[in-house]
Amino acid sequence: MSFVKSLKCRECGTEYPPIKIALCKKCFGPLDVVYDYDKIHISKTSFDNRPRTIWRYSELLPISDKKNIVDLNTGFTPLIKCVNLGKSLGIRNLYVKNDSVNPTFSFKDRPAEVAVSKAIEFGDSAVACVSTGNLAAAVAAHAGKANLPCYVFTPSSIESSKIAQIASYGAKIIPVRGTYDDANRLAYLASELYGWNIVNITSRPYYCEGSKTLAFEICEQLDWNRPDHVIIPVASGALLCAISRGFQQLEKVGLTKGEKIRLHGAQAEGCAPIAKAFTIGADKVLPVEHPKTIAKSIAIGDPGDGLYVLREVRRSEGVVGAVSDLEIVESIKLLAKTEGIFTEPAGSVTIALAKRLIEEGRIRRDDIVVCCVTGNGLKTIDAVSEYTFAFSEIEPTLEALSSSLG
Ligand SMILES: Cc1ncc(COP(=O)(O)O)c(C=O)c1O
Ligand SMILES: [Zn+2]
Repeated sequence: MSFVKSLKCRECGTEYPPIKIALCKKCFGPLDVVYDYDKIHISKTSFDNRPRTIWRYSELLPISDKKNIVDLNTGFTPLIKCVNLGKSLGIRNLYVKNDSVNPTFSFKDRPAEVAVSKAIEFGDSAVACVSTGNLAAAVAAHAGKANLPCYVFTPSSIESSKIAQIASYGAKIIPVRGTYDDANRLAYLASELYGWNIVNITSRPYYCEGSKTLAFEICEQLDWNRPDHVIIPVASGALLCAISRGFQQLEKVGLTKGEKIRLHGAQAEGCAPIAKAFTIGADKVLPVEHPKTIAKSIAIGDPGDGLYVLREVRRSEGVVGAVSDLEIVESIKLLAKTEGIFTEPAGSVTIALAKRLIEEGRIRRDDIVVCCVTGNGLKTIDAVSEYTFAFSEIEPTLEALSSSLG
């Protein structure tokens, strides 16, 4: 049973029944799923015997019939208290939400699991997406499990390890010469021509819902307390907006209350349109035409939810900051070495930004800080290996060993 009441335009407030629709027909604004909160009765003990997946929060997810769920065991990833990393950065309560251990090794399993389940509910005969790599893997894996054909549009420049992963799930990859935005435009045209459900375009309101389970889990894993700061990688901005919505919904259903949670968005300097707008105090996000960063997963030059990221971050008194590729690599190594967590560049931007916010005094020593580590380091070996180790073979002798140890 679903508690979805309607879809509501974030701009003009027009409401729609929960059908397959991409945007508001009147103003092209994004649509948010509205739940009937009066009918939702959940308390902290409701969760005692529920699955340790995103579906433990099914009252706040937009699927009507359980039998349509394509369940790869997504979610309920560890929230790890990082004592060593915290010490090295100078704070006492640092946590990593380790979403790199989801079924396809990124947080994108959350929106993909909801979107593919919803596609089944809509009776779609195929699914598709446009992606910098991680969403493509997540949608492809779920489509495989659901036995649906899957088409993915990606920039042709994404990491070869991601291409191999996506192809293994059986998806048809369409590698587009150009940027994510070029691939996005082609995907949009294809959705019109072929009638495909491009999950992050055609059924975007539902797709966006999956990611807010990160916020639910963070609070539940903190014993239903709210963190002071959450640091989130930002590409299109959908994840940050979903996490913000998730925290608000927990208050609405009475599971949490308390202090303001500061949301911080982390981008890479080589593609930081939202950070730039934030820094100069602008209300417009000017696209970056040629993104250039090793954090390819978050290289989206024209972010669809850019304005809403600015709004949510300003409302929560957070920041949007950009970090350099060098800071990204240093943070990958620091997180791996201190906590044994190996992330891709898009995940380490949060550690790099945390470091800066601590140095600037915006994060204080006793604040509860959560960095969302959203993708696995094994997905981007090519991108980081040249920075992380020098490899030199030795003879199988003790002499050679001793001289190599110096
Ligand atoms: C690993 C990783 N983290 C964060 C993001 C940012 O997601 P969004 O586009 O929702 O801002 C992405 C997007 O692809 C990603 O792959
Ligand atoms: Zn509208």
